[in-house]
Amino acid sequence: METPSPALRKLTLAQRRQWLTDSVSFDAQEAESFRADTWGHELADLLVENSVGWFRLPLGIVSGLVVNGVSHEVPLVTEEPSVIAAASYAARLLGKAGGLQATAAPPVMRAQVFLEGTAPGAEARLLEHGASLEAKARDLLGSMERRGGGLRGLSVKLLPEVGCLAVNIDVDVRDALGANLLNSLAESLTPALETAFGGHKILAILSNDASERIASARFQVPVGNLAKPGFPGLEMARRLVLAAEIAQHDPQRAVTHNKGIMNGIAALALATGNDTRALEASVHSWASHTGTYRGLSTYCVEDGLLRGTLTLPLALATVGGSTQALPLARVAVKLLEVTSSQGLCEIAVALGLAQNFAALFALAGEGLQRGHMALHARRVVSGLPLG
Ligand code: MEV
Repeated sequence: METPSPALRKLTLAQRRQWLTDSVSFDAQEAESFRADTWGHELADLLVENSVGWFRLPLGIVSGLVVNGVSHEVPLVTEEPSVIAAASYAARLLGKAGGLQATAAPPVMRAQVFLEGTAPGAEARLLEHGASLEAKARDLLGSMERRGGGLRGLSVKLLPEVGCLAVNIDVDVRDALGANLLNSLAESLTPALETAFGGHKILAILSNDASERIASARFQVPVGNLAKPGFPGLEMARRLVLAAEIAQHDPQRAVTHNKGIMNGIAALALATGNDTRALEASVHSWASHTGTYRGLSTYCVEDGLLRGTLTLPLALATVGGSTQALPLARVAVKLLEVTSSQGLCEIAVALGLAQNFAALFALAGEGLQRGHMALHARRVVSGLPLG
């Protein structure tokens, strides 16, 4: 870095862009890419501090993912070459056998207020003050209550190790992520909670744990459809089931297995302007809910069919926040033709299972590298470095 960093937040966006070009030596392609970034600088500046423009990633489409009998065009934002190719392959293969079925629980999220030095008998105090606390919470939730969402319950949990009480406030956030709503609710309710339980607030914040929002997908495909050169269908199915079982018993393999599932889901979350970090944190926490980190999908062979299932917590929004602020995220939601966050979660979990099936189908058969050769060949021809 040649130029000392000025106080970036005091510069205009144009000045920050100039500072970047002065600070880093751009090659011709880098300079062209930066110059071509001319759109929406005001929006970038509104969205993040110290913005210098936009960082572009490839946007591609998984075509014809059949979920609950409906064929969807699924937009993904990803830098990884094989993700869309693998999901598209699985979409075609599973589509011939009826596609995937998926469900998603109602969009209930949790805000938490952690109080220190509370009076004894928190449960009894909740019984005594619960109705008035709930009324206050409903009042604060205003328009969310009117839209059919809103308060779903209050509960308390003592954390004796740290001498704190967790007050959990469950809220149906409808089709939004609800992060601001939950954080405001937790903060606004804090004085009433301090009065009801005694003590004082240490933290008031939403929980990104979406374990109340379980989404599930499944498919079944005749084993005969799985035959590959050198692998009869039944043998491919057996190897695939075994590959998934390995991820139940070896946490190191489970990490990669689940990473493959999230390849599709995180790329869909990015395309629709959702919070990928919240999503990943919740999913990986869920992957260890039995006490050991495990693969999230399971497979079996029954009656000549390979059956696959995937279950995980998903919190994805179709309105509000970046989903609404980013024009291409709005386009992504329109393309998906989903009308609710539950609908988007159903597509996401089905995509995750399709992605996982594609990975295991390749790994348990000829391996990944052969399928990657074509993609790599395109990169080599265009002079791109190989990943
Ligand atoms: C690569 O991004 C994902 C895989 O490694 C997933 C897996 O191993 O199951 C192919």
